[in-house]
Amino acid sequence: MAQASASDAGRPTIDGRPIPKIWTDEALAEWATPIAGLGIAPGHFSDAEYDRAPIDALRTYPVYHPAREPKGYRDWMKAQGPQPLIEPDRLKTKADWIAAGERVFDQLDTAVARTDDPAALAHFSDPSAFDAARDERHDVVTKEGIVLDYRWVVERDGKLKLSLGSCSSCHTHLMADGSVLKGAPSNFDLAPTAAERALLAGFDPQPPLRRGAKLWQFFGVPWRADDLHAQWKSAPDEIVAAFQRLDDGGPVGPTFDRFNGSPYFTTRMVDLIGVGQRRYLDATGTHVNRGPEDLARYAILVEFADNAVFGKHRFITERNTQLKNRPSDAAAYALGLYLASLEHVASPHPLDAEARDGQSVFEHEGCAQCHPAPLYTSNELFRVADFEPDPRDPATARLHISDYRIDTDPGLALRTRKGTGYYRVPTLRGLWYRELLEHSGSIATLEEWFDRARLEPDYVPSGWRGPGVKQRAVPGHEYGLDLSDEEKSALIAFLRTL
Ligand code: HEC
Ligand code: HEC
Repeated sequence: MAQASASDAGRPTIDGRPIPKIWTDEALAEWATPIAGLGIAPGHFSDAEYDRAPIDALRTYPVYHPAREPKGYRDWMKAQGPQPLIEPDRLKTKADWIAAGERVFDQLDTAVARTDDPAALAHFSDPSAFDAARDERHDVVTKEGIVLDYRWVVERDGKLKLSLGSCSSCHTHLMADGSVLKGAPSNFDLAPTAAERALLAGFDPQPPLRRGAKLWQFFGVPWRADDLHAQWKSAPDEIVAAFQRLDDGGPVGPTFDRFNGSPYFTTRMVDLIGVGQRRYLDATGTHVNRGPEDLARYAILVEFADNAVFGKHRFITERNTQLKNRPSDAAAYALGLYLASLEHVASPHPLDAEARDGQSVFEHEGCAQCHPAPLYTSNELFRVADFEPDPRDPATARLHISDYRIDTDPGLALRTRKGTGYYRVPTLRGLWYRELLEHSGSIATLEEWFDRARLEPDYVPSGWRGPGVKQRAVPGHEYGLDLSDEEKSALIAFLRTL
């Protein structure tokens, strides 16, 4: 630990000041947006409960394609012994902390997935067996020969184990040249392969739950009379298994049945580049972003400390008061500082004559009202159809809510536990590398986003469709749909420069 200072004994410092405590009742009190239909914000672990959890954060290493693994790599890792993820007493300046945060982002793993199961290890040991079993959509390899989504870790007992990545798995984009863009949404399929299922076995709570009960824990919304997930609560395994086979309309690549979300109203991977300037987090604005500490809190919430308490509704009773583990404040704060430092990347598309025409279209179509430069988002929340928040509620009065409405599909914003009743305005920066548009990722290209055909019920969405869904409309956001073909091409050329 860091040297004790007079005021804050034992706390690591940044530029001479002790780092903040991240999980405090005070900071959490006004952080989350109320849930539509419930009228209150989700619960959270108290700081006392949080502090009791054991800290787990070990250094991890990339997993290589077996044909590309450096000679002696596994012995070298074992020889390092268990190593701490970061060493806070060596960090002095903000730049040191950001660099450490990048290491946390790259290396943090999903500790419950760690395994030395010989079958899982064998998958990564024999090049031809790996290629034979390889799922091209999931087991993607960078130009350095690194297989994304997995990590090696030397456990406290000195054993070398295979694990799954955490932040880096979902928030790393593989570019066409085999390089990676950190913070950009992942673009490979996260649906588990056989090897990954072996790793994920660690997630199963004890005693094993029926599949339906588990899905209900993940997604149930009992305050809604029309809750689609209620049917699973006591459904037999065969019924749930049949549903899960239908679920091939998602997750596709970078969409995800996230905890508190829904397989019916999926969540797309978000772009973390530029997140420091965003006022709200999540497509539905579930949390306000007041600075790096909120980004750290968000990371803690999703990967370690969601107690799944919504007023009187408790979804995972055995987890309501006890966390399995947590990162140190130093690791979490470093991560928050790193995320806040992720600056927009210049687009390779030039602002040529066509793109300049598109810029004029953007201006006279009024896009800038909601997508103003330089962030290309007004950072406001938009109410979905039929949702009317209570303006006298102090938690609502704090929010920046537009007077306009957005008529995109209201499912995620109303019928899930992420359902605040709002969608935020996404930034248009980075559209040149992002692949899925709209809150659930229903649309795969800008051409289709500006195609009126998507409003029709017989439309086949090019992105996420939904379990068993072959065709459906992608409604709302009708801006730009009536432009001429020439104007649309110019507008799209402009958007790709951002
Ligand atoms: C399994 C995939 C997955 C993992 C692992 C994951 N995230 Fe995310 N993350 C997402 C998705 C999907 C969203 C979008 C949520 C939404 O819009 O409802 C998101 C949203 C976020 C946001 C909010 C950004 C915004 O503008 O809405 C932050 C910050 C974030 N993640 C950071 C992290 C960090 C840090 C880690 C590692 C501790 C992490 N995430 C791990 C999938 C993941
Ligand atoms: C009244 C506010 C408003 C106006 C005007 C507006 N947008 Fe949007 N835009 C939004 C909101 C809100 C979303 C997110 C909708 C959702 O996810 O359900 C969005 C989403 C988008 C997206 C998808 C981005 C992503 O990452 O998913 C693009 C592209 C876009 N807008 C471009 C435009 C263009 C171009 C114009 C002008 C022709 C325009 N918008 C006008 C509010 C607006």
